[in-house]
Amino acid sequence: MSARKIIIDTDPGQDDAVAILLALASPDELDLLGITCVAGNVPLPLTSKNARIVCEAAGKTDVPVYAGSKAPLARPLITAEHVHGQTGLDGPKLWEPQMPLAGGHGVDFIIDTLRNHAPGSVTLCALGPLTNIAAAFNTAPDIIDRVQEIVMMGGAYFEVGNITPAAEFNIYVDPEAAEIVFRSGATITMMPLDVTHKVLATKPRVEAIRALDSRLGYFTAEMLDFFERFDVEKYGSEGGPLHDPCVIAWLLQPALFSGRHVNVEIETSSALTLGMTVADWWGVTDRKPNALFIGDADADGFFKLLTERLARL
Ligand code: RIB
Ligand code: CA
Repeated sequence: MSARKIIIDTDPGQDDAVAILLALASPDELDLLGITCVAGNVPLPLTSKNARIVCEAAGKTDVPVYAGSKAPLARPLITAEHVHGQTGLDGPKLWEPQMPLAGGHGVDFIIDTLRNHAPGSVTLCALGPLTNIAAAFNTAPDIIDRVQEIVMMGGAYFEVGNITPAAEFNIYVDPEAAEIVFRSGATITMMPLDVTHKVLATKPRVEAIRALDSRLGYFTAEMLDFFERFDVEKYGSEGGPLHDPCVIAWLLQPALFSGRHVNVEIETSSALTLGMTVADWWGVTDRKPNALFIGDADADGFFKLLTERLARL
């Protein structure tokens, strides 16, 4: 079977970085056509620098990395240095990437790639705010039906919010973009906090990655050593939740996950609940299901997959 064509849209971010590494370590299954960067965890100059650092760390500098949107569609940017550090990739020693940014805007790359590949043959993996994808849909509505699947990390329902009591960060940063994507009619698989908070990089799991005794293994372990502190302090959890790698793991081993097709709407006006993903879990409305809401994962199976794949880099 030929490798699945994907675009990763991302705001690295340590967990984004691990997701990108997992994809780069799986070329037999995933054909990474390009990486488009968006402002989110840190501003765009840093997310587009960090994405290139990650590609260089993996020795995969042939993947084009594009800078995309530097601000949400209709709001000022909110960032998360309190979680990811000032660089967005705090933990390991970083460097100035040698690989250049690809020419052109990330949104145009998304549009052109979907137009130049067969309908239904390209999957969008969204690891940050949905600004780039929504902008592409606004600019070129013809591409929506050409998308094979959008697999995105974002939202929360039973798990409630992480940036406000009601909202998860990716959706909260650009709720208008999320509304456009969730109302687009595209096939959506959603990895909300409900599942990502069950995939914790505990000490034994991080030590298994460090024990790979490779430059990439140490690089990843040092990112996770830093990344865990926010969630451990806030939730008293045993490690940092690997939010974004769930998106890639779904493409590699979907049997690790389980969920339910439900309707999800985005709150875009209430000051109290802005960015909330309202999931009609019990079907109490006549709103059509528009997303596969993933609620559970086999965490041990996930880390077995991740560690085995990181060993390949
Ligand atoms: O809320 C978690 C999400 O926000 C993850 O994608 C993390 O990288 C941040 O972007
Ligand atoms: Ca992210």
